[in-house]
Amino acid sequence: MSGPSPLDRPTTRILVIGRAGQLATALAEADWPTGITVSCRGREAIDLEQPDAARDAVIAEKPDLVINAAAYTAVDKAESEPERAFAVNRDGPAALAEACQTIGAPLIHVSTDYVFDGSKQGAYVEADPVNPASVYGASKEAGESAIRARLPAHVIIRSAWIYSPMGQNFVRTMLRLGRERPELRVVDDQIGCPTAAAELARAVQGAARALLAGGRDYGTFHFAGTGSTSWFGLAEAIFELAPGPRPRLTPIPSSGYPTPARRPANSVLDSAKFARLYGVTAPPWRESLAQCLRDIQARETRTA
Ligand SMILES: NC(=O)c1ccc[n+]([C@@H]2O[C@H](COP(=O)([O-])OP(=O)(O)OC[C@H]3O[C@@H](n4cnc5c(N)ncnc54)[C@H](OP(=O)(O)O)[C@@H]3O)[C@@H](O)[C@H]2O)c1
Repeated sequence: MSGPSPLDRPTTRILVIGRAGQLATALAEADWPTGITVSCRGREAIDLEQPDAARDAVIAEKPDLVINAAAYTAVDKAESEPERAFAVNRDGPAALAEACQTIGAPLIHVSTDYVFDGSKQGAYVEADPVNPASVYGASKEAGESAIRARLPAHVIIRSAWIYSPMGQNFVRTMLRLGRERPELRVVDDQIGCPTAAAELARAVQGAARALLAGGRDYGTFHFAGTGSTSWFGLAEAIFELAPGPRPRLTPIPSSGYPTPARRPANSVLDSAKFARLYGVTAPPWRESLAQCLRDIQARETRTA
């Protein structure tokens, strides 16, 4: 990867693995500088569960940079199908890393706060030891390790509590349930950093531009919305900021809402390293949430 940077060429090509997911959609909708073409490939074109084919497809496309925005993200379902979770979240990224090493392209990969067990007091930094408490978390951690072992030119960005105006996420679930029920019971003893997919896309873009310009700040980073709250705190903010019905909200402990996968009690991420090296920070989480709620309302108005 020596010589002139790809940005010196008339067209720089970025390949995004994933098309319909929250982050992939935000990346497709983002403004990219002239001269950069971004191609998002859905599962029908590049299936991470078929690592050999995925590797060959990336090598055949020979992009200047690869962004992996795809993952097995069904946290609870992963407990009963660990093979699939590990295939998509470990073997798929391993194949992408091998392909990138072959073609000399850097890889930006997105990982999760769920690689931590949540026992730390205070925000997690990148150097903190991982200890996933769920199959999903373990499969994502295995994906990180697989990339590190195969490709020095990687940027792994761990994010958290992602939401967007589309797809399956806590914000949309709360809005739906708020229309259906007068009272919602919401977990109050797990804290994290709500992150808008659009903000994460901005961070990924920042890293992509720096790498394409010849930057070499490889490694593992955290990037999440600024500030933290519990799921209950997030639910309160959603109904304060969104128009429409306001159900009564009751805080409950995690023990009152048993799930197949154990979630970390604390998954607050410290994003200072990414800000220092890539110059991108997320706004306070309530600001990004307000923007997302406006986007949801605008979509609903358009389709009404
Ligand atoms: N959501 C969160 O709260 C959260 C938190 C922390 C980190 N993350 C990480 O952030 C990244 C982006 O998450 P997201 O919220 O955008 O996820 P998402 O909305 O659930 O989208 C995941 C995407 O991955 C695709 N996918 C699943 N299996 C695949 C396979 N075998 N081959 C190719 N594509 C496959 C899905 O395709 P289909 O549309 O075809 O199903 C979907 O488009 C992931 O790495 C995730 O682990 C997410």
